[in-house]
Amino acid sequence: MSNVLEVNDVHVAFGGLKAIDGCSFTVEKGTITALIGPNGAGKSTMVGSIAGAVSITSGSIIFDGNNISGLPTYKRAQGGLIRTYQISREFGGMTVLENLLVVRLGQSGESLINAVFRPKKSKDETNQLVAEANDILNTFGLYRLRNEYASNLSGGQKRLLELSRAVMAKPKMLLLDEPMAGVTPALIEILGQHLLELNRSTGMSMLLVEHNLEVVDKICSRVVVMAVGKRLAEGTLGELRQNRDVVEAYLGGEVHERVGG
Ligand SMILES: Nc1ncnc2c1ncn2[C@@H]1O[C@H](COP(=O)(O)OP(=O)(O)OP(=O)(O)O)[C@@H](O)[C@H]1O
Ligand SMILES: [Mg+2]
Repeated sequence: MSNVLEVNDVHVAFGGLKAIDGCSFTVEKGTITALIGPNGAGKSTMVGSIAGAVSITSGSIIFDGNNISGLPTYKRAQGGLIRTYQISREFGGMTVLENLLVVRLGQSGESLINAVFRPKKSKDETNQLVAEANDILNTFGLYRLRNEYASNLSGGQKRLLELSRAVMAKPKMLLLDEPMAGVTPALIEILGQHLLELNRSTGMSMLLVEHNLEVVDKICSRVVVMAVGKRLAEGTLGELRQNRDVVEAYLGGEVHERVGG
């Protein structure tokens, strides 16, 4: 199977601090791959580098066969690489439905021309978009809140909205930085299932930064472990639980219990 993403010997420095210090790994097309590791390991910096928000000092990032290392964020997004943030970034002054619509209305430069010169075509397209958006909101359990202002949503609902917006962009690959943070346990379970279903039904690849290993265990086929800016190990979670370096750096007590018991 081919790789949707290849990270080759990437370095990122913030002043004197080497946040990423020669990290390489791959993500196979169509998989949900986890990126785990202790606080400050460089996971969010890695996601930022892949998305284009953080400039890399050296190395390369290959997405879908193309070297995207120097491309700005919006070009990567246009190419099908979409991220979500550790902290949700919805438009509070828009409704939930509008938050989804702007994702795609902004994508087609033709929208405005159509609206002015071909109002019928524009209306059909908008109806089509609304239908798609409602479908996604239904999947993520937000349909009944579609006319609510995004600012009125709970933390967990904002997470769902952030994911819905990402899916609305029809990405080839989703970069998810702790999508379960601040979400209740019941919702974590549901969110995980939604991501898995999405992956299975569309083949959408995902890189998931996640501290919740139960979620990783349920939905990720492979796991990359980062520590102090490097790739420490890679494998299934089961394999990593047997890996002494990984246990010492990150998995700690959780593993001793499971391996021992
Ligand atoms: N914009 C920045 N400027 C300076 N240092 C930064 C910046 N962003 C991250 N760092 C530092 O880079 C290192 C890696 O941080 P990063 O946020 O990537 O870790 P992380 O693995 O995502 O951690 P967490 O699990 O806590 O989210 C840390 O030492 C952090 O303090
Ligand atoms: Mg982080």
